[in-house]
Amino acid sequence: MKSMLTAKEIRAAFLDFFKSKGHQIVPSAPLVVKNDPTLMFINSGMAPFKDLFLGIGKPSNPRIADTQKCLRVSGKHNDLEEVGVDTYHHTMFEMLGNWSFGDYFKKEAIAWSWEFLTEVLKLDKDRLYVTIFEGNEAENIPKDEEAYQEWKKVIAEDRILLGNKKDNFWEMGDTGPCGPCTEIHVDCRTEAERIAVDGATLVNNDHPQVIEIWNNVFIQFNRKKDNSLELLPAKHVDTGMGFERLVRVIQQKTSNYDTDVFTGTIEAIEKIVGKKYDRSDSKEAIAFRVLSDHIRAISFTIADGQLPSNTEEGYVIRRILRRAVRYYFSYLDRKEPLLHLLVPVLAEQFANVFPELKAQQDFVAKVILEEENSFLKTLESGLKRLESIIKNTNNEIDGKSVLSYTIPLVFQKTLPALLLRNII
Ligand code: ALA
Repeated sequence: MKSMLTAKEIRAAFLDFFKSKGHQIVPSAPLVVKNDPTLMFINSGMAPFKDLFLGIGKPSNPRIADTQKCLRVSGKHNDLEEVGVDTYHHTMFEMLGNWSFGDYFKKEAIAWSWEFLTEVLKLDKDRLYVTIFEGNEAENIPKDEEAYQEWKKVIAEDRILLGNKKDNFWEMGDTGPCGPCTEIHVDCRTEAERIAVDGATLVNNDHPQVIEIWNNVFIQFNRKKDNSLELLPAKHVDTGMGFERLVRVIQQKTSNYDTDVFTGTIEAIEKIVGKKYDRSDSKEAIAFRVLSDHIRAISFTIADGQLPSNTEEGYVIRRILRRAVRYYFSYLDRKEPLLHLLVPVLAEQFANVFPELKAQQDFVAKVILEEENSFLKTLESGLKRLESIIKNTNNEIDGKSVLSYTIPLVFQKTLPALLLRNII
């Protein structure tokens, strides 16, 4: 039964569950941040609510839940280099979240997350581990004993693991609301693998099948500019569950890209390029994953009001778009624009949850097409110039020429943005 749930049904199950616990369901905020100099894009479900945690303004309800579009390709949380190479990092992802603004705290948050995963979604309890904050002397914060005691009510003690500041103290950026967190991890390995190696040893160890799915943050502090922690007047709950990972776990897949969040886009790419996605680690397979991931980030940020450009936020989008173009140009043997053709597929898929894309589908596709055309021209002319140098110099070319023509093609992803702007 559980393997039959679609992504759409899983999202709805989450929102319905928290509605039944008194939460108001709100739409996702736009990805593009207009009035916060500390943040380029929304990077977590809580970011749109930052002021409320700091005590500025009043929420429409002390309990809120939603699915928030997030982008982690800049600033503190930056996953870009992993995307497509592995099977579970993304540029844009959905974060399912439930919030308490000075209302419920650890007891309810922990009990409800457990109830939702094990009773509504019926995840196998034997595959779940939780982590809690071990405390930090330098910051003068004790172990999260309250979270530990709450977890003990529902899960065996040897499945409650202690985590350090890096894993179990969540901060949205260099400054802002923060606090200790408790994470839920799922072990998706086979029975044989689970017998051979204790799953507890793989939590937070970059194992592709032992993954974090839900983070419950207990916001109690504000990190100030001088790096000190200030106690907030009220205590809040901020949770974030990676939707794409959750769907993968429920649909019992080993890769996020094998779930129905991505298969529609991958099938569309297969048709366009006349190749099959083989799920391997080959450059070709990575290209399928890069494209199906990046088109989401590109389309939704444009729909939310950020055009690609040569500065700041616009340049982040341009870089993602160019990374996608380089992948299809180099590894899918596609020399014509491709990304813009995927926009209608996405618009349809997300029409019920993020209708802003469908509403602006033609505009978004047009912007992407123009960007693709201009970057493809740069790629082609760079290659042609390189070929002609090689020909004219009898295959002996000086290092300076090679650098000037190949850097834009090869190293674009690793060069600092400023340098890149001068080259391309
Ligand atoms: N704000 C927390 C996170 O993004 C829930 O992980």
